[in-house]
Amino acid sequence: AEQFFAPKLLAGAKLMITAGPTREAIDPVRYISNHSSGKMGYALAQAASAMGAEVTLVSGPVNLATPAGVKRINVESAQQMLDAVLADIDGQDIFIGCAAVADYRIAEVAEGKIKKSSETMSLALVRNPDILATVAARNPKPFTVGFAAETHEVETYARDKLQRKNLDMIAANDVSIPGLGFNADQNALRVFWQSGAEDLPATDKLTLANQLLSLIVKHKNNP
Ligand code: CTP
Ligand code: CA
Repeated sequence: AEQFFAPKLLAGAKLMITAGPTREAIDPVRYISNHSSGKMGYALAQAASAMGAEVTLVSGPVNLATPAGVKRINVESAQQMLDAVLADIDGQDIFIGCAAVADYRIAEVAEGKIKKSSETMSLALVRNPDILATVAARNPKPFTVGFAAETHEVETYARDKLQRKNLDMIAANDVSIPGLGFNADQNALRVFWQSGAEDLPATDKLTLANQLLSLIVKHKNNP
């Protein structure tokens, strides 16, 4: 009975999560994207909602059901994702960037379907805005958590992103481990913040989501 009356860990908190891949159009019928399934972000949205948070999920194209009680905003490109995030960022207490945002978009999207001609072709790409860094640069700033998908030197690159993007916390996953992370049901995370670190060993994404949210609450209250 006690847990029935215990206040929920995120009661009253507003939390925004980005999830899934982005799609960058090449022409009306083609795009560049990646293998992100959105499962980790959706697990975080589900867990946060169950903990009592008011959750906004800004989602790229995925094949997942919207978790109960979650406000979902569908987007395709990185620019659309940034616009959707900024439209709703005021008053958010926590922001978690879980989306696999395309780093580049096509410099000039063709108006009509591109016809093949020569034996090789090149596409000019330009950098996309960094959604997570844009949120972390705001004042006031929500408690801002990033993800880092790395194949090697996980801690070095993750800590570099923590500093460079002015994050409060970063959750790194080693995407070179088969069956973990990208497009998998299980994941393992190494979580870093300014003065510490914690390993969350391989388990299903909902369990990890609960563990990560507990860490976030702990460090949000005692930075
Ligand atoms: N991210 C973002 N907007 C971008 C690129 C990344 O919000 N345009 C966020 C991701 O959602 C993730 C974090 O930044 O939370 C790190 O993404 P990652 O791809 O690992 O890092 P990058 O900074 O893009 O660096 P690189 O791909 O070169 O490792
Ligand atoms: Ca990237």
